[in-house]
Amino acid sequence: MSNNLDKVQELIDHREKAKLGGGQKRIDSQHNKGKYTARERIEMLLDEGSFEEFDMFVTHRCTNFGIDGESYFGDGVVTGYGTIDGRLVYVYAQDFTVFGGSLSETMAGKICKVMDMAMKNGAPVIGLNDSGGARIQEGVNALAGYAEIFQRNILASGVIPQISAILGPCAGGAVYSPALTDFILMKKNTSYMFLTGPKVVKTVTGEDVTQEQLGGASIHSTKSGVTHFVVDEEEEGMQVIRKLISYMPQNNCEDAPLAICTDRIDRAEDVLNEIIPDNPNKPYDMYEVIKAIVDNGDFLESQKAYAPNIITCFARFNGQSVGIVANQPKYLAGVLDINASRKAARFVRFCDAFNIPLVTLVDVPGFLPGTGQEYGGVIIHGAKLLFAYGEATVPKVTVTLRKSYGGAYCVMSSKHLRGDLNYAWPTAEIAVMGPSGAIEVLSSKEIAAVEDTEKKTALIAEKEEEYRKQFANPYNAAKYGYIDDVIEPRNTRFRVIRALQSLATKRVVNPAKKHDNIPL
Ligand code: HXC
Repeated sequence: MSNNLDKVQELIDHREKAKLGGGQKRIDSQHNKGKYTARERIEMLLDEGSFEEFDMFVTHRCTNFGIDGESYFGDGVVTGYGTIDGRLVYVYAQDFTVFGGSLSETMAGKICKVMDMAMKNGAPVIGLNDSGGARIQEGVNALAGYAEIFQRNILASGVIPQISAILGPCAGGAVYSPALTDFILMKKNTSYMFLTGPKVVKTVTGEDVTQEQLGGASIHSTKSGVTHFVVDEEEEGMQVIRKLISYMPQNNCEDAPLAICTDRIDRAEDVLNEIIPDNPNKPYDMYEVIKAIVDNGDFLESQKAYAPNIITCFARFNGQSVGIVANQPKYLAGVLDINASRKAARFVRFCDAFNIPLVTLVDVPGFLPGTGQEYGGVIIHGAKLLFAYGEATVPKVTVTLRKSYGGAYCVMSSKHLRGDLNYAWPTAEIAVMGPSGAIEVLSSKEIAAVEDTEKKTALIAEKEEEYRKQFANPYNAAKYGYIDDVIEPRNTRFRVIRALQSLATKRVVNPAKKHDNIPL
């Protein structure tokens, strides 16, 4: 064999070695835990054959605790770029078979390199996390590595989409890189996120908790709201990320790609004309409305199980990607509370940062009253949503289906927060508050003066009817131009598509500033 061929063979051998990460035994152990390896995950995520790897031959430089005798090509993370539906994305996948995927100085350097490349070329970054946190043997160098990643997450925020999948442990400060990204996905039963693990919790607070109870997917999808998507299997997780990416532009200077629309744009849905119950206190399912109006009834929901009184999802109208925010009357009557406000505010800000138009479907009885909410700071949290809508410059189309009362009227993409086209169904009720509350305030003395119970009930009904006639309709708001048109519910899809088409060239610029001061 020539010298050249020997060298080529050496490269092939090196590559084979690198592909084994921490060795076959540890790969088998990873599989036995029901987890895929870093390379298998990347293969599932990207278009077939599109992955180009960087830094395959990087090894750590640490000599502490004798680990200089133990090093692996790649050093615990696989990095590079590839495509999703033909569009460029940068990716890193932590390799649990090498020191438990723990973060070393060199590993951080690899991750920072893909992030820098992604920023330079204006493409999304996807991080697949499976790591025991900072590599203990490296001490402060590992911590420095994390901080370097955090800094890049921060500068990339609002410039390129950043997505994190948590596919194993994610402990300590390691959770902060995912937290700084736009979307987090977790897999049930094998992924955990917490700042301090169960053992430390036990020592400090005496509390006995399992990893799942402390930071499993079920907790972060329902109680903390940390995660946006939860999946049963890793394969499903990769498909969700691919779909999520399809709704986004490559960066903040571009628009999301236009999909081919196979659904009729003038598809009328008669069922919508009857979907609102006669009794204003009866719920209906907002998902039915969303499914009826978007392209092919297809949407991708973020934070489905957290604050279900508001729905946040991506969908398409005539192939155009939009973010939908919709009150859900089926859950807590669609009321706005702390969690719903935070959830929707973050979603609105993501869409605005990445030029994704907002479609808002309103049926909201107001903000949830009570000490629980007030002590929890509903004023500040509600203000987040108000702020997010008010600062958003993307096209904003609002449809009020039924209730739109009080502060919640102002917040939910109203005309006064620069809503571009605000439509209402004939069933809309836009007022300071609902009839019973209003009558309680306005006519309590008059009602209290009536002693006969029957007459009292009749008077209340009469007052409520009078109020309803005057305020519980869309025409009062339409009279002032706060509602641009009252539309037939069955035509909602067509009207929203028309509205979005008319706003395609919208240009609004907010006043120049260093940055805003959203009520955090
Ligand atoms: C070095 C580590 C490691 C770490 C795991 N390993 N975590 N090596 N540094 N942080 C190694 C193990 O020694 C083992 O090596 C291999 O990875 C697999 O680990 P196991 O414990 O066998 O796996 P498992 O039973 O699945 O448990 C996984 C685990 C556990 C839950 C992640 O390893 C664990 O608790 N690790 C420590 C977690 C932690 O406290 N990290 C520091 C957080 S603080 P061998 O050779 O046997 O395969 C932090 C600060 C960041 O991250 C601050 C940023 C601001």
